[in-house]
Amino acid sequence: MLTDIEKKLIKKEETFCSNTYHPLPVVLKKGKGVFVWDVNNKKYFDYLSAYSAVNQGHCNKQILKTFIKQAKKLTLTSRAFYNNELGASLEYITNIFGYEKMLPMNSGAEAVETAIKICRKWGYEIKKIKNNHAKIIVCDGNFHGRTTTVVSFSSHHGSKENFGPLTTGFETIQYNDALSLEKKFKKDKNIVGFLVEPIQGEGGVVVPDEGFLSKCKDLCKKYNVLFIADEIQTGVCRTGKLLACHHENVKADITILGKALAGGFYPVSGVLTSKKIMNVMKVGQHGSTFGGNPLACAVAKEAIKFSIENKLSEKAEKLGVIFREYLNNLKNDLNIIKSVRGKGLLNAIVLNCPVNSQIPWEICLKMRDNGLLAKPTQGNKIRFAPPLIISKKQLILSLKIIEKSLRNF
Ligand SMILES: Cc1ncc(COP(=O)(O)O)c(C=O)c1O
Repeated sequence: MLTDIEKKLIKKEETFCSNTYHPLPVVLKKGKGVFVWDVNNKKYFDYLSAYSAVNQGHCNKQILKTFIKQAKKLTLTSRAFYNNELGASLEYITNIFGYEKMLPMNSGAEAVETAIKICRKWGYEIKKIKNNHAKIIVCDGNFHGRTTTVVSFSSHHGSKENFGPLTTGFETIQYNDALSLEKKFKKDKNIVGFLVEPIQGEGGVVVPDEGFLSKCKDLCKKYNVLFIADEIQTGVCRTGKLLACHHENVKADITILGKALAGGFYPVSGVLTSKKIMNVMKVGQHGSTFGGNPLACAVAKEAIKFSIENKLSEKAEKLGVIFREYLNNLKNDLNIIKSVRGKGLLNAIVLNCPVNSQIPWEICLKMRDNGLLAKPTQGNKIRFAPPLIISKKQLILSLKIIEKSLRNF
């Protein structure tokens, strides 16, 4: 039951904000580590982590210190001038991720747009395809953001309905189908890129078969096509490796990062690639007033430093195994669980109910009542993605809440 204050705040948000989301009815006012608190001071485990943006935990102390220190010194210069944070932070970040250059942006969708621009330009200037003929292959069930170009190749009808005319130059294959990718490559010399999520997060935590990513990477190499990994949700230790592509020892030609790159303090995204590829971009051809600002840079560097120093990948890997094992054991007992899937601490349960059923929503309400926040995704799935700083004890406690909630269905 919602309290009067919650009802009032929800009404205000619904009145003055666009209705482009369908939030779970809970109004949050505070966050610390793996927990968030609502306006009535009720405490919850956060099992969404702002769609994996707060991998380092809410209001992470170490990042906060850097954030405040930098905010007092210099926040924004634009790139009309040099600043003393940009070069040093990007040196650190590119070294950690194994790339030569990064183009800093703000939101995830912007970074995807940026990668598309770089890839197309590479196609014309390095691969030497005919002007205006570049094609990029994407996967069915993808989610890469909400800008006009990005929704143009979404498989979700509602995301693009009445937003036309849409951007052309994209073709879709089934996720997890390397054979179809090769067929496309064989048929069409104008293909310049293959854009893929190593695990489809918004698509319902769809994990491809082992070998899919490496096969696709090999094909890209063979046909001189850029392999572009959208690691906005899967990157920064979420799946048990620094990047999800590392599970298959794949180094993407272009890696896109966002979300946890700045630990939830600030919207920071970026496109990482080699000098040769990045250098197709020239003065005035891309940018953003806020991209690469000193506050963003200092925060991103600290967020990555924290993730490495605190071995968040190893933690996610280890705790993910426990998480899935617990729920898989429960599956034998609880008919509502159809399957459990995921990697590291990006997991989902597929429920034994139709895609359009209300049950997933009701389970999330029940979990909320029991002190844990998560949301349904793609109808009959519930994603579980806690901050990666969660302890084993906290993980077991939260699993007990999930179990207790599921037992009602
Ligand atoms: C894989 C992936 N790409 C891109 C995006 C878009 O990021 P943003 O919401 O910051 O624009 C998301 C967001 O969920 C995502 O999961």
